[in-house]
Amino acid sequence: MAGKDIAYFYELIDRLAKDHDLTDEEFKDLIITEDPEVYALLASKADEARQKIYGKNVYLRGLIEFTDYCKNNCRYCGIRCGNKNAERYRLSEEDILSCCDMGYELGFRTFVLQGGEDPFFNDDRLVSIVSSIKKAHPDCAITLSVGEREKDSYQKLYDAGADRYLLRHETADKAHYELLHPAEMSFEHRMQCLKDLKEIGYQVGCGMMLGSPGQKPEHLVKDLRFLQSFKPHMVGIGPFIPHHDTEYADCPAGTVEMTLKLLSIIRLLLPDVLLPATTALGTIDPFGREKGLKAGANVIMPNLSPTNVRGKYLLYDNKICTGDEAAECIRCMTRRVESVGYQVVQSRGDHVSFQRS
Ligand code: 5AD
Ligand code: FES
Repeated sequence: MAGKDIAYFYELIDRLAKDHDLTDEEFKDLIITEDPEVYALLASKADEARQKIYGKNVYLRGLIEFTDYCKNNCRYCGIRCGNKNAERYRLSEEDILSCCDMGYELGFRTFVLQGGEDPFFNDDRLVSIVSSIKKAHPDCAITLSVGEREKDSYQKLYDAGADRYLLRHETADKAHYELLHPAEMSFEHRMQCLKDLKEIGYQVGCGMMLGSPGQKPEHLVKDLRFLQSFKPHMVGIGPFIPHHDTEYADCPAGTVEMTLKLLSIIRLLLPDVLLPATTALGTIDPFGREKGLKAGANVIMPNLSPTNVRGKYLLYDNKICTGDEAAECIRCMTRRVESVGYQVVQSRGDHVSFQRS
């Protein structure tokens, strides 16, 4: 990068913080630089941007991984249907409700129901679960993360009380999407789902893995352009981590540096976005989540799933927090959040555009 000295990056990052935009070439320069001074500058600008809107608050989401059955066969994922070694489980409605009750006692005001695309959880079953949680805890937000469905199904779940929906777009480049997914899965349908969710009125989260097989800097520039035009309320990003029972078992994992850098860029691009420091980031670095918060993240998602199934929801190898009780997990996370100067807050933590006055 001849001629691209630190002064060049200072100017870029200032402009990104001010205008929330750069040219494709400039985004690419930020994505490929390995200069630690640039990372530090990005992180400090991102932290400033997040503090302007959310202060030092960090929002908690209680994650309930309620099924690891999945009809999809995403090439990177440990619970894809083709993995005959994955131990499958489903939580009952009763199990899910008791996770929420316990989570409520611990201070959670958002529950994230995450699972594989499990046909057992048809609309009726999911509607029943969502409405029971809403009835028991009307002051809580419910986030669903159960993959691609049709618009009328998303609508029923929304009408039952679901507030938010997470569906990572995985990559905004069609050819890259087709590399990562088998032919039965369609890039267009994934994008359509995101559009439908937004139209219905959900707070919507998309996102991608960093360092996924075949990912090029150009793909990340497209991801940033997609985020800019779609304007999600939440963006979930984390490093790709190989799973031993997939064809990508020997591929390198994404790096902490790249993940932190993208967290910061996304914070500057969409200053009011809700941005989790993910479990995957905590898996590749023991202080990954703390570093994520310092780089602009403002959400953490401790695991509330019952301990007897924790070790089964394995999208990638060496996942952390698989042995801890929920109460211990939240104590540990609170300590970690405070160790880097932020505070955990007990609230729904809605996107600013959804906050009721
Ligand atoms: N490494 C990191 N993240 C993964 N996911 C799936 N498999 C992996 C992996 N091997 C992510 C995908 C999916 C989310 C639920 O988990 O981005 O959308
Ligand atoms: Fe698609 Fe798990 S099978 S993310």
